[in-house]
Amino acid sequence: MFKKIHIGIGILTLLFVGCTSSIEENKKVEDETVGQIQQNDDEVASSLVNNCFSCHQPMGSSETRIAPPMGHVKSHYLEKYQTKEEFVKAMASFINSPNKEAGIMYGALEKFGVMPNMQFDKETVHKIVSYVYDNDIDSDQWLAKYNKVTEPTFEDGDFIGKGRHIVMSTKKQLGKNLKKTIKTKGTKEAVSFCSVRAYPILDSMATVHNAKIARVSNKYRNPKNKANDKEIDYILIYQTQLDNGFELKPILEETEDLATFYMPIVTNEMCLQCHGPKDSIEPEVLAEILKHYKDDKATGYDVNQIRGIWRIEMAK
Ligand code: HEC
Ligand code: HEC
Repeated sequence: MFKKIHIGIGILTLLFVGCTSSIEENKKVEDETVGQIQQNDDEVASSLVNNCFSCHQPMGSSETRIAPPMGHVKSHYLEKYQTKEEFVKAMASFINSPNKEAGIMYGALEKFGVMPNMQFDKETVHKIVSYVYDNDIDSDQWLAKYNKVTEPTFEDGDFIGKGRHIVMSTKKQLGKNLKKTIKTKGTKEAVSFCSVRAYPILDSMATVHNAKIARVSNKYRNPKNKANDKEIDYILIYQTQLDNGFELKPILEETEDLATFYMPIVTNEMCLQCHGPKDSIEPEVLAEILKHYKDDKATGYDVNQIRGIWRIEMAK
């Protein structure tokens, strides 16, 4: 019990302090990492595989592709950016806040939709991107050495790493199915996908990862997803941080036998089809939403807003 309170306060302080200190921290990170990249090559390689290859698998390793292979991404950036410095800067800034205007892979943007904002920490992104520039990640040797990882492993107690992995792979499954449904059957049909078929996906991911997975919101559509008071505070803090351009960091709370991980859910253009201002949602889609959710509160969003948070509960 003591432990829980202690860490809870620690996190809140961190969040608030975060508003004042992250600019300097980020600057420091940029200065320091430039010379250090070669040091932990293996670590960065597995960070690339664990964080990015769930969507950006190399050619041939997936029939159900949901993003371009990382090698293709690299070639596009090499064509456009001549120096390593420009390459790293452009790619890192896209990953830190993906949006259509900043993207240069027009075909991929069209085909897959904008990459979700995954709130990686900036230092990790910087290292990964430099690594991608320096290494031939498409060569057989590289792939043989690193791309064996199917399910990443986390050190004991690394609940941030594990929580993030659970969120990413769940998001990937949900996103892939949602996009496919919108594309093949239209947005109206996709509403029933969200209300009926999303739960089995969440459940199966929960079983795979042996964790409880939920998405909760202050402006919920399904009352089952109602955030509690503490979670509402987290959502509001994240929104303030996002509005002011600060990095959004995951939150971890621990008791003796449970680790609870939170990560913000940020809207992009695709979401507005069903969560945008009421008068901008297609009438038949809105009608379908109201048919399933009489007291829907989840409209009126713009892009880059905190739609809610992931809550991942992991037994210790
Ligand atoms: C959940 C799936 C997913 C994950 C995980 C992911 N991406 Fe992406 N990424 C995408 C999709 C989809 C696109 C194509 C659409 C676009 O360009 O935004 C993309 C595009 C990109 C682009 C090209 C953007 C452009 O259009 O110029 C870069 C660079 C990129 N990703 C880097 C990364 C890196 C590095 C990682 C790991 C740290 C990563 N991505 C993790 C889905 C993902
Ligand atoms: C095709 C319509 C549709 C699209 C597009 C859509 N959603 Fe939803 N969303 C729904 C429906 C329907 C629910 C209610 C699901 C349920 O019953 O749990 C929902 C629920 C949610 C929830 C759970 C909290 C709540 O309000 O019940 C979150 C978080 C969420 N959506 C985020 C997003 C984000 C982020 C995007 C864009 C990446 C998005 N949605 C795109 C229809 C959609």
